[in-house]
Amino acid sequence: MGSKARDTAHFARAIGYWYDAKGHKANAAEVVPVTVETRRSIPRNRRFRLHYAYATSAHAWLPQYVKEREDVLASNLYFIGGGNMAEAIITAVRKHDDRYPVDHIYVEDISEARLSYLEKTYQVTPATPRDTPDNVDIAVIAVRPQDDVTGVATSIVNRFDQRTTSVVSIVAGYTIAQLERTLGGERRITRIIPNTLTTVDYGYSGVSSNQAAADAPDSVRKGLDAWLSTFGKPLHVEERLIDVITGFYPPNLVYHFIDAYVDAGVLAGLPRDISKAIALDTVIGGTELLKQRDVLPQVLLNINNSPGGVGITEAYTLNKTGFAAAIQSAVLAAVERTTKLGKEAQ
Ligand SMILES: NC(=O)c1ccc[n+]([C@@H]2O[C@H](COP(=O)([O-])OP(=O)(O)OC[C@H]3O[C@@H](n4cnc5c(N)ncnc54)[C@H](OP(=O)(O)O)[C@@H]3O)[C@@H](O)[C@H]2O)c1
Repeated sequence: MGSKARDTAHFARAIGYWYDAKGHKANAAEVVPVTVETRRSIPRNRRFRLHYAYATSAHAWLPQYVKEREDVLASNLYFIGGGNMAEAIITAVRKHDDRYPVDHIYVEDISEARLSYLEKTYQVTPATPRDTPDNVDIAVIAVRPQDDVTGVATSIVNRFDQRTTSVVSIVAGYTIAQLERTLGGERRITRIIPNTLTTVDYGYSGVSSNQAAADAPDSVRKGLDAWLSTFGKPLHVEERLIDVITGFYPPNLVYHFIDAYVDAGVLAGLPRDISKAIALDTVIGGTELLKQRDVLPQVLLNINNSPGGVGITEAYTLNKTGFAAAIQSAVLAAVERTTKLGKEAQ
């Protein structure tokens, strides 16, 4: 390939990223025609970007942009296990392409029906252990602890080059030490615990890495953080806290509370739809107030619960029923269960 064609290829590819990062769509009049020679020079999985290549006036700002985004260019994701959590992450990554432009998303799952659903819905590429691409930046283990996690890790050793591919596990309870036993200590391994609330732009992901990942070049660590930030706020913690976060954070507890709250309204005589509307607004509004004031609930409860009033009567009744202890016991049990599942995992 001549140097002119090479330049054009580089230019077109970079523009493609700019399109992704800014989320702008070129309209038909602005699309830059790309020569056949240029198209051949670009890896197949990047070609579709060129359909959106932007106008030539982009020349002026392009070099600076490419420099800024160097750390997250050429990112390919590979999911092993395409279940609910993988789907939530894929949705969020697509939505936040400005934080982490993705060239390609591959998904491997033992269910063909599931793969074809993901392909149709998110245009991901179905993959199998036999046709693994060789340019994967992040391989995500997204199977359940009850599945063959060790088997999945073993297949990663054989398929993904440890110099290029970071391994991220979302498997609840499965420790970095367990993963290192199969993947080896030299492999960059990060354990995360994401949250389905990421689909609505809420939620934290607990994140903990092994030494190899902590020692990785800046560009790799920045790239991983950029990816993590597409599906929740990354919270880097010691690994011992990952199980605690797993048991503590799912929205289930909130759903249980809202369920009981709506029923309480109905029990007291409100129609269910009114009870639900009030309950949801009260939960959102109460949370917003706590965030704005930056205080713990006790501060607002002290204001609301006037002597001999309605609020303190409600508080007394909740205390008698063991409300706080019920929530705390549920969280402790969930944390214990997480750790147990990880220990039992194969
Ligand atoms: N859901 C959450 O809110 C959440 C939050 C944080 C962490 N996690 C963790 O994320 C992981 C996945 O959870 P999930 O809710 O997404 O589970 P899920 O919906 O059951 O997804 C797991 C998927 O992996 C497939 N699978 C099983 N073994 C496989 C293998 N060897 N190779 C390829 N695919 C395989 C399963 O197929 P079959 O169903 O056909 O077996 C299923 O489609 C779990 O470890 C969980 O602890 C989940």
